[in-house]
Order: sequence, then structure tokens, then C-alpha cells
Amino acid sequence: MSSLRVIPGSPLKGEVVLPGDKSISHRAVLLAAMAEGQSSIDNFLVSGVTEAMLQALAGMGVEWRLDGTRLVVNGQGIQAWRAPEGPLDCRNSATTLRLLAGALAAAGIPAVLDGSSGLRRRPMQRLVDPLAALGVAIETSAGGTAPIRLIGRPRSQRLHGAEVSLPVASAQVKSAVLLASLSADGPVVLHEPGPSRDHTERMLRGLGYRVDSAGLTVTLHPGSEIRLPPLSMSLPGDFSSAAFLIVAALITPGSAITIRQVGLNDTRTGLMDALRAMGGQIDVHDRREVGGEPVGDLAIHYSPLKATSISGPLVVRMIDEFPAFAAAAMLAQGASLVRDAGELRAKESDRIASLVQELSVMGVATTEAPDGFTIAGPAAWQPSHPAPVVVDPHGDHRLAMALAVAGLAFPAPVVVRDAGIIAESYPDFTETLRRLGAQVSFD
Ligand code: S3P
Repeated sequence: MSSLRVIPGSPLKGEVVLPGDKSISHRAVLLAAMAEGQSSIDNFLVSGVTEAMLQALAGMGVEWRLDGTRLVVNGQGIQAWRAPEGPLDCRNSATTLRLLAGALAAAGIPAVLDGSSGLRRRPMQRLVDPLAALGVAIETSAGGTAPIRLIGRPRSQRLHGAEVSLPVASAQVKSAVLLASLSADGPVVLHEPGPSRDHTERMLRGLGYRVDSAGLTVTLHPGSEIRLPPLSMSLPGDFSSAAFLIVAALITPGSAITIRQVGLNDTRTGLMDALRAMGGQIDVHDRREVGGEPVGDLAIHYSPLKATSISGPLVVRMIDEFPAFAAAAMLAQGASLVRDAGELRAKESDRIASLVQELSVMGVATTEAPDGFTIAGPAAWQPSHPAPVVVDPHGDHRLAMALAVAGLAFPAPVVVRDAGIIAESYPDFTETLRRLGAQVSFD
């Protein structure tokens, strides 16, 4: 795979429109596949991870077509899904595996869900226990990982209403249980340990279901059968992709950029709170609603940053943003601290170990903790430059983008190895940076 070379120093200027939100894209296509009728989804994220979901659904007979970023799905209802012939390959996408498991459990369809070696490393027992509480027969491989097996049941047999406490604050697990609950014979009450993203709840409400949220408790009231109308919606831009551009503009002197139509769901924007606390100038304009989600335009100006500490409920509100945060922290004055973030070890890479390792390669003083890390700002760096520094993204799309962004404000060129992995979530990332004025190129 190719390497991405970043030459520091050029300010970023201009406007960006983002690709559709990854989490909402996954949910939109899955709900459209469960619905009856033709759904139309604009600004769908076309990328590696959503391709995994689309192909898995095709394996169950769901028809869809892409016209640029417009996705059209011919839903026949979940009752029309056929059992997949072999294991469903979820590739690198845990969202595909976990959300599909919930939908298949609702339908009672037997299936094996598997994926890449990276996906096989990620924890799946957290999915099994809450689904089993609803009566789903499901098992993981030894070690609580994929492949996972759903045993299936007669389609007329419903799951049980239940009260379930989720073992981790995970929107993937919560969503899988909510989807399975659509076929329960009574209300399902979920208690979460933290405030995970609520896109599934919003979308199910938009499709006519009663979903009550009170603090960390969500209650879904199923109907007498699973019946979803088709979707017609445009998706907000992905805050988690915007995160890299926000940090890039904040740390590169002379930068001023605008990012249009960014999803600003409060369960997702913890990084914005953290960066503002560090002194980052991020202004929100024209707040409005798109596809049942709050959005706005962001204006970001280069800002000298100071260190901060992240812990507690803020962690889950910025769970995907720690690689981007690390790029900001290494440019901030003082030592930034992250705690209560052990979940980072269960992401596309062990994001605590991989961030600490790669920032150390860059000469940044970092230390690892079981549930986080500390990153010292530039005064404590020991860069042995000006020779280019070569870093490795550990097969993690967000690590690759964060290292590239860090390179924009580093005293030497940064080469990110195997950077093709960025296409998992943001295929236009490099081109977007280049259009804003960054010196980035694939070797
Ligand atoms: C996601 C939830 C989060 C997040 C992932 C997408 C979702 O994972 O890290 O990128 O779409 O529900 P967890 O549920 O494992 O925290």
C-alpha cells in the first residue's frame, strides 16, 4: 500500500463539504433494507466500511444501487431477507457486524458473521449477553470474538421484552439490542453506563416507533410485527471526519477554514468541547436540522493551544476522536492527560498503544496508562530532525489521518506508511487537505 508524505508549513484556507456520517450511513442502509418500499438516501458515505454493510445485505437478497453518493434501496421488508449461504464477511467493520447481528436476531435468521483478522481481535461477548437476555440464541468463538453464530428460530417466534443493563457504553451494542427488540413481545428497557451516540433511537422514532430516552435509560416499545416505512433523507456530514480538519486548521499557523453541514449531535461532539477548553477557536454558524440530526457550519481559525485533561463522560462523547485529539495535544503547551478511556484498546487498533508508539517515533514525549495516555507539548519534544520521520498507522484509518494531520505542524516531513487504509472511512481526505492548501502526496 502507498505512503502519504506530508510537508509541514502551508496554511489551510477554504471551504469543505464533508462525506455523510459513517454511523448514520450504516443505520440508514440497514433500516432501509428492513423497510418495505423504495428508500432514497442522499450524501451516503461511500467507503470501505459501508461497502462491507452493502455487500453483506446483498448476500441476503437485499437490492440496492448507488448513484454517486445517492443510495437507493428496494426494501421488501425484513421478512423477505434470506439466510446467507456462507459466513457474512463484515471485513474491518465492527459496526456492520454488531448492527447486522441485531437485525438478524430480530428476523430469527441463522447466520455466521465474520471479518478481517483485525475485526476478529475485537470484543463480541458484550453483544452476546444483552441479546441472550431477549431470548436470542447466539455464541461467539472461544475468547469472545468473531466469528459469531446466530442459531435462528421459527420466524413466528418472538423475542421477550426485558430489562437489560449494557456492560459498556457502546452505541453498537445498544443499537444491536434496539434492532433485535423490534421483534420482542413487550417493551425492552436498556440501561447504559455512559452517554453513547443516539442515532438509532432518533431514526427509529422518525420511522414511527416509540422510543423513550431518560438519562441513561432507553425504552423501545415494539409493535405487533416489524413494519418500517421507506426512508427519504439526506445525511449530515461526519463530525468524526471533520475532527481531522478541525485539528489541522487549529494547529497549522495562518489557517482559516469553514466546514459545511457538520453533524453536531451532542453525543458526538466531545472533541469540540475539549479543543475549545484548549483555546481553539471554533465557531458554529447556521445551526439547523438535517435528517433528524442537528447540523451547523464550522469556522475554524489557527489558535495557540494549551494542554487539557480528558476523563469521565466526555470520553464516550469523543470516543472516535482520540487520534485527532492526540495531534492537537502534541502541539499544545503543557502535558495533556487522557483517563477512563480503556475502550480505546478495542478499536481498529489498540489506540492507546499505537498512538504512544507512533508519537514516540516522532520524538514526542508520551506515556501509556492502562486506561489512557499523557502527551507532552512541543517544549518537551526531542525531534532529531530535519530528516523525514516515517510512522505506521497499525491498520487503523483514524490513526493514519491523525498522523498526517500532526505532520502539518511538525518540524520535519512525516511519511505515513500504508495510508490507503484512510479509504475505510474518508476516501477524499487527502484530496480535501490538498485543496485546502496542504502539501500532501502519495509516494
Ligand atoms: C459506532 C459506535 C462506536 C464508534 C464506532 C461507530 C456506531 O463504537 O467507535 O466508530 O456507529 O454505533 P462502540 O459502540 O464500540 O463504542
